[in-house]
Amino acid sequence: MPQQLTDIPGPPLPSEGHHLAAIAAAGGMHTFQLDLHRRYGDLARFRLPHSTVVSVADPVLLEATVRINERPADLFRFLDPFFESGNLQVLPEPEYVPWRRVVLPALGDHAKHAAMFPRMAAAVEQLADRWAASGEPVALQHELNNLALRMVCSYALGDAFDSAKLAARIVDAFQFLLDHFLHEARGVEPPTPPGERRRRVEQAQWTLREAVTEVIARREAGHGRADSADLVGALVAAGWPVGRIRDTVLGTMLGGHHTSGVATSWALHLVSLHPDVERRLHAELDAVLDGRTRPEHGDLRRLRYLEMTLNESMRLYPPGPYAARESTTDIVVGDHLVPAGTTILHPIWAVHTNPRVWPEPDRFDPERFAPPAVAARHRLAFLPFGIGPRHCSGAGLAMTQTKLMLAVLAHRFRFRLVPGHVVTPVERFVLCAEDDIRMVVTPR
Ligand code: HEM
Repeated sequence: MPQQLTDIPGPPLPSEGHHLAAIAAAGGMHTFQLDLHRRYGDLARFRLPHSTVVSVADPVLLEATVRINERPADLFRFLDPFFESGNLQVLPEPEYVPWRRVVLPALGDHAKHAAMFPRMAAAVEQLADRWAASGEPVALQHELNNLALRMVCSYALGDAFDSAKLAARIVDAFQFLLDHFLHEARGVEPPTPPGERRRRVEQAQWTLREAVTEVIARREAGHGRADSADLVGALVAAGWPVGRIRDTVLGTMLGGHHTSGVATSWALHLVSLHPDVERRLHAELDAVLDGRTRPEHGDLRRLRYLEMTLNESMRLYPPGPYAARESTTDIVVGDHLVPAGTTILHPIWAVHTNPRVWPEPDRFDPERFAPPAVAARHRLAFLPFGIGPRHCSGAGLAMTQTKLMLAVLAHRFRFRLVPGHVVTPVERFVLCAEDDIRMVVTPR
């Protein structure tokens, strides 16, 4: 007979009836979860205003939650204003499944990644050239997030994004909106003066919607670049309404913006702190690139140590530090019955640093991702892209982009932190550094 939800260990309930103050005091949900599992073990319980939360930090226990296909609306409400035809993060399963069936092949098709690769590689090289010419220290996360956003836009919007003027307008509008909503979500006053806010939000939304509407019109007229994802074309062909198509492009920009850039920046940071890893990475890049400045798409699979290094970086600093689900039926997790309607957290950072799964979890060691070590571990021990039917739909593209950025930049430069600069991980929708990662960049 399984034990009840209330038997799952967790912190005592404060008088307010929830743990929001404790989460804020811990520095955010990501650090609260680390502490929660340190104190109460791999299965722990706490309370948010609208639901009880069960957090599962053990790969074997996670299996019971893998198939859940709903997210809790309350946790993602802050994204509601981003979308015009319903928050894509929390679409109910019957609406979500057919939509995802169209989106996944458009984003995940290797042939399209290969076709788009030269364009993405040229963008990374342009950034590297600019750094080399300037000689100034760089704010890695700012620079790489911007680059990743441009790559995703080019992939999703195709030739509409080739116009530099339009591209700049799209990027500016998106960054303004995201920044605005993230400030609001954290309860922090946005930087735009209150009188101007409404007008600027509407203007940014209009700019983004107009750009996508133009792409839809071009696809309907049979135009478009062959190397783009044709995400828009696929959604048009599947008969999705215009609002949902525009939201899908925005949702893809949202998913692809901070994540790949942040992942690359953490990898460059960790490599810079570990000269032995740096030497091995440089040796692999020198051998595979063999005098070239950038890889071909087909070279990526030969960059094995680079992939191990990237995975170990995403273990230590997962760009998405947790994911959330809402159970629609009663499930049994370990010895406990978790009733329908409970919020289930996948605390990615806590799983990745669980000492029962990862010995000496704080040590950076790419060898953890050598094939025999991977084969010996549970498949859910490493989950940077989440798990189950709502896992990251851009995972394949993300790995392509991130490996490319890391390959070009690590091959060309040696990175060292600006003396005195302190790197503090914080959660701002993704796990990033509070004051960026400021690096002195020296050509090799
Ligand atoms: C290293 C880079 C990336 C990481 C670590 C990452 C991680 C994640 C995680 C943890 C989630 C939540 C999954 C869940 O709930 O289980 C997610 C969702 C998502 N990601 Fe990524 N992501 C990355 C890059 C990208 C890129 C490049 C794109 C777009 C091309 C993208 C698009 C999305 C979308 C659209 C979702 C929502 C999926 C859905 O609800 O259908 N991500 N990502």
